[in-house]
Amino acid sequence: MSFRSVFIAVVIAFALILAAFLLNRARPKVEIEQPSAALVQATGKCAECHARLQYSVVHEYEMSLHARKGVNCLECHQPAAGQEKKDHHGFVISTKLTAGNCRGCHEGIYQQFLRSRHAAPAWAAIYGEKGLTPEQVNFSETYQPGGTRRPPHPFVQMEGGSAMTSGCEQCHSVGKPNADGTIGTCTACHTRHTSSVRIARLPSTCAQCHMGPDHSQIEIYEESKHGVMFQAQERLLNLDAPPKTLTTRDMFVPTCATCHMSGIDGLGVTHDPSERLSYYLANAISVKRPNYAAAQAKMKQVCTQCHTPALIDRVYTQAEGVVQKTNERVKTAQDIVTGLRKDGVLTGPPFSQPIDFVYFDLWHYDGRTSKHGAFMGGADFVQWHGNYPMMQRTVELQSMAAELRREHGKAK
Ligand code: HEC
Ligand code: HEC
Ligand code: HEC
Ligand code: HEC
Ligand code: HEC
Ligand code: HEC
Ligand code: HEC
Ligand code: HEC
Repeated sequence: MSFRSVFIAVVIAFALILAAFLLNRARPKVEIEQPSAALVQATGKCAECHARLQYSVVHEYEMSLHARKGVNCLECHQPAAGQEKKDHHGFVISTKLTAGNCRGCHEGIYQQFLRSRHAAPAWAAIYGEKGLTPEQVNFSETYQPGGTRRPPHPFVQMEGGSAMTSGCEQCHSVGKPNADGTIGTCTACHTRHTSSVRIARLPSTCAQCHMGPDHSQIEIYEESKHGVMFQAQERLLNLDAPPKTLTTRDMFVPTCATCHMSGIDGLGVTHDPSERLSYYLANAISVKRPNYAAAQAKMKQVCTQCHTPALIDRVYTQAEGVVQKTNERVKTAQDIVTGLRKDGVLTGPPFSQPIDFVYFDLWHYDGRTSKHGAFMGGADFVQWHGNYPMMQRTVELQSMAAELRREHGKAK
């Protein structure tokens, strides 16, 4: 082979490589593989710029265990499977972060969360199956029967768009189906940049959603001995203790998380709070859950870390008494309203007559509150926000029903 042809071959090869390089460089970054060097440099670059723009974001991150363990900005912000990509100052980031950006490193926890009512059932409580894939519905139904396969809540139609978006969704989107095929968010309890167990263990974190007359858990907790002790001794507790080795020496006063999620004294952390619940207390008439005995045993085991069996059994016996009595009271009220419908005295869609609201408030506010109060140490909620208004509304229902029957000439 002559020198000439070798020279031409080398020139052509070089030209091809150069062309490929230039073409590749012209492609948007979004289309190119994420360079691993970027992962290494990311935190420095992202932080340098964003510390000037939003100091708080970078500062919160710097306080996290993630920062101490070398998890950098891009490891969360890079597009996870199924996410839209966006060029961003020399990096490729995702336009929207979801539980999908955490599961890569916390898959086991994501799977537990998926089984919980904080996932698909929370969303389905508003919109029913809409937005969920059949696979997601089937999966959730295996663990939470009736939680997902149901129609949208009547308030979706009645109250409409903005009330749903700025109201219901703010709490129930903890289980929203995401465009990338995942469900929900982890940041409702951990925040975006602290990824903190301390924050997740604070009652005020759960109280973002668990409050108000229909689920007064924070109000009940605050008046309970546990809440009083937390208020008094919060600064003595080691709220940062690693979950895997958390003991009652770190937290000798329980918060919501201790009873419902923590793995105190080796019991094992769970992201499915249903595991320790034996009744469906949020229902109008509360029935036992399929895992009644196992769930009750698990919760009692948590109590046992700080109490003797006599006290625990007394609480459960008394609370189960309240469940039974509340069921009877709600049933009486329910019979009044269904009787009116059966006899044609009450017509029209749900929530079209004043009496519908009296009945709804009776079980949804008073009934629930008395049951929750009984299990979690809220005497005032069992009585003055529970049984007393239930009694009052029952009288009101009876009188409204008699009046309606008189109007329709169907007096009993
Ligand atoms: C040279 C400065 C600079 C660098 C480097 C930088 N950003 Fe940004 N970033 C910005 C500015 C400015 C905005 C405001 C909106 C925009 O321009 O997209 C922003 C916006 C964002 C947003 C909000 C995006 C949205 O659409 O709401 C996120 C998330 C973000 N940056 C993360 C990162 C991450 C992660 C890195 C590192 C991988 C990074 N940034 C690197 C300047 C920078
Ligand atoms: C543990 C995962 C994680 C890490 C690590 C992380 N972020 Fe974020 N960041 C998030 C999540 C989740 C959001 C919310 C994004 C959304 O809603 O789509 C977010 C939002 C942001 C936003 C938008 C904030 C706003 O309120 O508008 C910026 C800017 C940002 N991150 C920058 C950074 C920078 C810079 C770093 C590193 C110093 C970083 N992030 C590290 C998870 C993380
Ligand atoms: C690149 C992997 C990675 C990603 C992505 C990631 N984490 Fe982590 N996370 C870790 C590591 C590593 C630890 C430390 C584990 C340890 O030391 O036990 C950790 C610890 C945690 C902790 C415990 C903190 C503590 O104080 O004990 C929480 C909570 C957490 N991550 C939440 C999240 C959330 C929420 C997201 C998504 C927004 C996320 N993580 C994304 C790797 C990751
Ligand atoms: C302040 C936060 C918040 C708002 C706003 C909110 N919810 Fe809820 N919702 C909760 C919490 C927390 C529970 C769990 C109650 C329990 O288990 O005691 C719940 C329970 C429910 C339940 C019963 C559980 C189930 O899956 O059947 C339904 C139904 C429901 N909500 C529908 C709605 C609808 C519809 C709206 C708007 C009209 C709404 N919620 C607004 C926080 C909220
Ligand atoms: C972003 C809002 C939100 C936050 C924050 C939140 N929850 Fe919930 N939680 C809900 C909703 C909505 C439901 C009702 C889901 C359903 O059944 O439809 C619920 C249900 C529950 C249930 C009942 C589950 C069942 O099987 O009936 C428990 C227990 C619970 N949450 C505990 C907690 C604890 C403990 C925390 C704090 C560590 C917390 N939640 C934080 C919204 C929230
Ligand atoms: C309802 C609130 C809530 C939600 C939602 C939530 N967590 Fe947690 N998470 C907690 C609590 C509370 C703890 C601490 C338990 C304890 O006290 O030991 C925790 C602990 C953790 C830990 C440390 C566990 C360990 O064994 O070291 C990680 C990691 C974590 N969560 C990741 C996630 C991820 C990922 C998601 C989303 C899939 C998520 N969390 C959603 C409340 C929540
Ligand atoms: C001392 C332990 C303890 C503490 C602290 C505690 N709970 Fe509970 N919680 C219980 C018990 C016990 C039940 C009833 C369990 C059952 O059904 O067997 C319950 C029931 C519930 C339910 C009802 C679920 C349903 O069936 O509708 C929710 C929601 C809830 N708790 C949330 C919270 C929140 C939020 C906090 C903090 C503000 C909290 N709990 C504090 C022990 C506790
Ligand atoms: C992490 C420890 C801890 C756990 C777990 C715990 N408690 Fe407590 N509890 C306390 C402390 C501390 C007090 C206040 C004791 C005192 O007055 O000295 C208390 C007080 C009480 C009281 C009031 C006693 C009285 O007569 O004043 C009741 C009732 C109670 N707890 C029930 C329960 C039940 C039921 C559970 C489980 C569902 C539970 N506790 C879980 C620590 C705990």
